[in-house]
Amino acid sequence: MKLSIQIASLAALFSAAIVNAATAPSYNSALSSWVNTKTIAAQTRLLANISPAGASAGAVAAATSTSNPNYWFHWTRDAGITLHEVSIWLNSTTDSATTDAYKQKLNDYSTFSRQLQTTSSTYGIGTAKYYMNGAPFTGAWCMPQRDSPAMRAVSLIGYARYLLSKGEDVSVYYDRKLPTTSIIKTDLEYVASNWNADNNNCDIWEEVRGNHFYTRMIQRRALIEGAQLASQLNDPGAAVYYNLQAGYISGNMTEFWSSTNNYIQTTIDYSGGLDYKASNLDSQVFLAALHSGLDDGFYTVESDQMLSTIVAIINAFQPLYGINSMNSAIVNSVSMPISVALGRYPEDKYTGYNSNGPGNPWSLITSGMAEYHYRLIETWSKDGSISVTSALSSFLDQLNSKYKIIFTNSYAVGTTYFSGSATYAEILSNLMLAGDMYMACVAFHTDSNGQMYEEWNLNTGYGQGAVNLTWSYGAHTAAARHRAAASKIVYGN
Ligand code: NOJ
Ligand code: NOJ
Repeated sequence: MKLSIQIASLAALFSAAIVNAATAPSYNSALSSWVNTKTIAAQTRLLANISPAGASAGAVAAATSTSNPNYWFHWTRDAGITLHEVSIWLNSTTDSATTDAYKQKLNDYSTFSRQLQTTSSTYGIGTAKYYMNGAPFTGAWCMPQRDSPAMRAVSLIGYARYLLSKGEDVSVYYDRKLPTTSIIKTDLEYVASNWNADNNNCDIWEEVRGNHFYTRMIQRRALIEGAQLASQLNDPGAAVYYNLQAGYISGNMTEFWSSTNNYIQTTIDYSGGLDYKASNLDSQVFLAALHSGLDDGFYTVESDQMLSTIVAIINAFQPLYGINSMNSAIVNSVSMPISVALGRYPEDKYTGYNSNGPGNPWSLITSGMAEYHYRLIETWSKDGSISVTSALSSFLDQLNSKYKIIFTNSYAVGTTYFSGSATYAEILSNLMLAGDMYMACVAFHTDSNGQMYEEWNLNTGYGQGAVNLTWSYGAHTAAARHRAAASKIVYGN
């Protein structure tokens, strides 16, 4: 028994390194060179939006647009997603000047975050939007947004872990003796005691009140990682409490599934806001799989309910946008297949300027779908096997029917394909082709200087809405990082 476990885990270890050695398509190097140059541009542009001139140190501009639309604000969510990305870069750099530059951004963000936590405002910790000097936004806005402090906690937990690994002091972040001054603990206490407070909470698109799948998943991540940090820092009582609340969240997630629709609904317990999201189908559900990533199998990318939701999302968006009639495009002078471009939800009317419609596809969402496919490759490479469920089979069928990706080896529902088999290898290499179609779609619609917007016009494909949207850059750099990992698995480099 023991021996077979050892062999199994050795095999799993080994398979992560095994290269499928598929042959990359001829356009691969043109796409890779686009990805690599644009990653550098995206990092530069993202960093420029943290502590920009004219703002308090540590404030993160959601975009550089100051009018039509005005995104010159610090949104707690966008900032959390952004600094979480910076903390990942920090962990993988060895250059000391770069390390110092990233730490400076994270330290300033931490100080600024503390200022926001201690400024009194109507929605307190649930305040989603601040002026760039740290004053709470005073206009009418859909609040509270309770994903926001959870995402801030996730970003700072990532940084605190880094500091701890270097033997540095983290008491401003988490100190059980100073509960009310600890930045991370302040957010965790709010999340733990408010996640189920009411159904007045606004979704991440700031439009609908109720309880939202994305929000719950980020809250769950914050509490689980928060509990780990609490245990590490000798706060066992808090660890028990955070884990308990995370467990309650987990236990309630099944309510989001619709067996009639065969997808995860974005909102339950609706209590107001926009009343035209009839489908309740929303890309924020799959963004949750990317942002809540604990790799614990709980609504992760390979889960059946996520895969079924992806199938529904792609079917819903394909017919909505004029640019989705294209199935190939020129990137870096080379023609390559491209995917459909994806938006927030099918009924969206936000144009990037107003809500008079029609809604558009978004850069960060299409990058997110590329990342989703790369993460499937990473997950199944780690597992060393792929079990074909009927949800997965429909997902793979869709690659064939929508994107003409050919499977020469058939996959049968109920069968597990192991690393080393032709079917396993072909599923991974076809996922790579699909992920790259989303990447190529982003590439084609991105300005040649790397400037990204919030959206692309649904008919012309040109950038629309907020310019230099920080989140668009972070979504690209995350997708690029996972592409590099997936490419090593599938192509060996
Ligand atoms: C601005 C919000 O940020 C956006 O998500 C929303 O669609 C529009 N307001 C319209 O409510
Ligand atoms: C509108 C998006 O819907 C929302 O999620 C985001 O926080 C703001 N724009 C700022 O980027």
